Amino acid sequence: MNPIPRIAVFASGSGSNAQRIAEYFEGRDLLEISAIYCNNPDAYVLERANMLGIHTVLFTRSDFYQTTSVLDDLNNREIDWIVLAGFLWLIPDSILKAYPQRIINIHPALLPAYGGKGMYGMKVHESVIASGEKQSGITIHHVNESYDEGDIIFQATCQVHPGDTPEMLAAKIHELEYEYFPVVIGKLVAG
Ligand code: GAR
Repeated sequence: MNPIPRIAVFASGSGSNAQRIAEYFEGRDLLEISAIYCNNPDAYVLERANMLGIHTVLFTRSDFYQTTSVLDDLNNREIDWIVLAGFLWLIPDSILKAYPQRIINIHPALLPAYGGKGMYGMKVHESVIASGEKQSGITIHHVNESYDEGDIIFQATCQVHPGDTPEMLAAKIHELEYEYFPVVIGKLVAG
C-alpha cells in the first residue's frame, strides 16, 4: 500500500459520484484519486475527469475480459483500491484476485433487494416504485464475482413517498450517495 493510498474509480456513465469523490478528497492528503477507468467512450464521466484534471483510462469489452491490459495499467499506476461508482460490468477474476476485499461498489437500493444483473440506475428506482416500497436507500459493498452480492459495508435509507417518480427517487438516492460514499471510502481506505 502506498503511504497515500492510490484509488482507481471505475464509472460507465454520468460520473456524478466520481466527481463528488474526487472533490471530497481534493487537498486532504488522505488518499489520491489516481485515475478514472471507463468502458464507455460517450460517458460524461470522461468530461468530468478532464475538468477535474484526473487521468482517464478507456477500455473495451475485449480489453477487459480477454487481455490483462486493465490490470497491467492498475499495476503500473500502483493502484491500491478500486471504487466502482456507476460501473456496469462484472469485474474479471484476475482483477478480483489482485485486489482481495479492496474493490467496493455502490448500489442505489437496499441490497439484497433490487440487485443483480440488469439492475442499475433508473431501472432500480422504477422497480422499487412499481413494487410499492415505502423505503429505499444505498448499499456500499465489497465486490465479488456476482453482481451486487459481496459483503455489505454500509447502508443508508430514504423514504419513498406516494407519487414519487423514479427521477425523484433517483435524486434522493444521489443525495445519500454524495453524503456517505466519500466518507465510507475514507474510513475503509485511510482508516
Ligand atoms: C448511481 O446511483 C449508482 O449507485 C448506480 O448508478 C448511478 C451512477 O450515477 N450504480 C448502479 O446502479 C450499479 N448497479 P453517477 O454516474 O451519476 O455517479
